[in-house]
Amino acid sequence: MKLLVIGSGGREHAIAKKLKKSPKVQSVYCLPGNPGMKRDGIEIAAIEQDDHKSLIEFAKNHKVAWTIIGPEVPLFNGLADAFEAEGLKVFGPSQAATQIEASKRFAKQLMTQQRIPTADYQTFTDYETAKAYLAEQGAPIVIKADGLAAGKGVVVAETAAEAQTALKEMMQDNKFGDSSASVVIEECLVGEEFSLMAFVNGDQIYPMPISQDHKRLLEQDKGPNTGGMGAYAPVRHIPEATVDAAIEKILVPAAKGMSAKGAPFKGILYAGIIATDEGPKTIEFNARFGDPETQVVLNRLESDLAEVITSVLAGKEPELKWKQEGIDLGVVVAAKGYPEAYEKEIPLDLIASESVELFFAGVTERNQQLVSNGGRIYLAAAAGETIEAAQSLIYDWLNQNDKQQLIYRKDIGDKAKQKNCK
Ligand code: AMP
Ligand code: GLY
Repeated sequence: MKLLVIGSGGREHAIAKKLKKSPKVQSVYCLPGNPGMKRDGIEIAAIEQDDHKSLIEFAKNHKVAWTIIGPEVPLFNGLADAFEAEGLKVFGPSQAATQIEASKRFAKQLMTQQRIPTADYQTFTDYETAKAYLAEQGAPIVIKADGLAAGKGVVVAETAAEAQTALKEMMQDNKFGDSSASVVIEECLVGEEFSLMAFVNGDQIYPMPISQDHKRLLEQDKGPNTGGMGAYAPVRHIPEATVDAAIEKILVPAAKGMSAKGAPFKGILYAGIIATDEGPKTIEFNARFGDPETQVVLNRLESDLAEVITSVLAGKEPELKWKQEGIDLGVVVAAKGYPEAYEKEIPLDLIASESVELFFAGVTERNQQLVSNGGRIYLAAAAGETIEAAQSLIYDWLNQNDKQQLIYRKDIGDKAKQKNCK
C-alpha cells in the first residue's frame, strides 16, 4: 500500500520512516515534508498543509490507502474532516475532537465532566478580573493562553511579579493574538512530568510506553518553554502503578467523554501528566503524536506501524509489541536564538553514523546541501542499554558536528540517572 503523512517536522519524519519499514508499504509520501526525509526514501512534494484541495487531489491521484496528519494546526483546521468528506481514510481527529487540544477551556470542562484528575483552575476573559485573582492567589502559579500557541503559551510563574507580567503580555499586549484573549490560571502541580500517548478509535485505546520531554530551553529545566528540546523512553522510574492509573483515570475517561460529547476521537491521544503525591494529574491533552516524544517512542515499537494503524482504523485490535530492554533517547539541535529570533541558513554537513539516527525538522536545500531554515533543526536519536550509553553515542556524535550557530541541551535523560534508573 501507499501511505501519506502530512507535516514537515521531526515527528513526521519519524512516523514516515517507521511506516516505510513495513513490508506491506510500497511508498510513503510526506507533504510538504522536508529534504532531510529524502535520505530515508520518503517522497516529498511542495504542497502546504493548509492547501486542503491539493492534498486531497494528491491522495486521490496516488491512491493512498490512508493518511496520517502529524501537526495540530491542519487538524484544528478540519483537514481530517475534509479528507473524510471525499471518502478518503484518515488517521486523525475531526475538527470537533481537536478541541481537546485547541481549547484549554474545553479540555478542562471535559476533565470536570469525566472526573479526570487535573490542577484546580479558573478561566478568564477579562484582564482586570484575572489580575485581581492572581494577586489573591500568589505564586507559584501557572498561566495558559486558551488557544494554540505552538507550545509556548504556558508560563509557570515562580513569583507574583512574573505572573502579572505574563498575564499582561497575554491579555493586554496580545502576545499570542486571539489565542490569549482568554486565559486559564491554574494551580502549580509538583511532581515529575511524563507523556502518555495512545492509538485511539472511539472507546478503543491502545497505549504506548511513556516518555519524557524536556520543554525548557536550558539545562536543569531553566529558561523559557520551547517546543521540546529532547526526550527519552521508557521512563522506568515512574512506577507502573502510576502509568496504569493514568491510563484508567485519564486516557480512558477522556476518550469515553469525547464519544459522549458526540465528538469521538480517532487518532493519537496524548496526555501530558504530572505524577503528584495524590496520583497522576493531567496538565494537557494533545490530539496528535508529541514532538519530540514520537522520535523516541516509535523506535521502541517492534510491530509494524502501518499494520497497527490499519487495524485501529478498521476498529480491530492491533498487534502491539514494544521493545522491553534499553532506552531510546533523542536530543534536539536548534538554531542559536531559538525560541525567539534565530539564525538561519546554517550549513549542515553532517557526518554519517551507524548508531545515531537523524530526524529532520527545520531544514531546506541550497545547491543540494542541507541548510537550516527553522528554529528546531533536527533530533539526534540513539538506543543504548542504559541512559549513559545512549547519551554517549549522541553527545559524542554531536561534539563532532558542533557549530557555533547551533544549540542543544547536554542533560537530556539526566533525570532518569538521578533516580538511579538504568
Ligand atoms: P502545556 O503546554 O500545558 O503542556 O504546558 C507546558 C509546560 O508547563 C508543561 O510541560 C509543564 O512542564 C508546565 N506546566 C503546565 N501546567 C502546569 C501545572 N499546572 N503545574 C506545573 N507545571 C505545569
Ligand atoms: N512534546 C509536547 C508536544 O508535542 O506538545
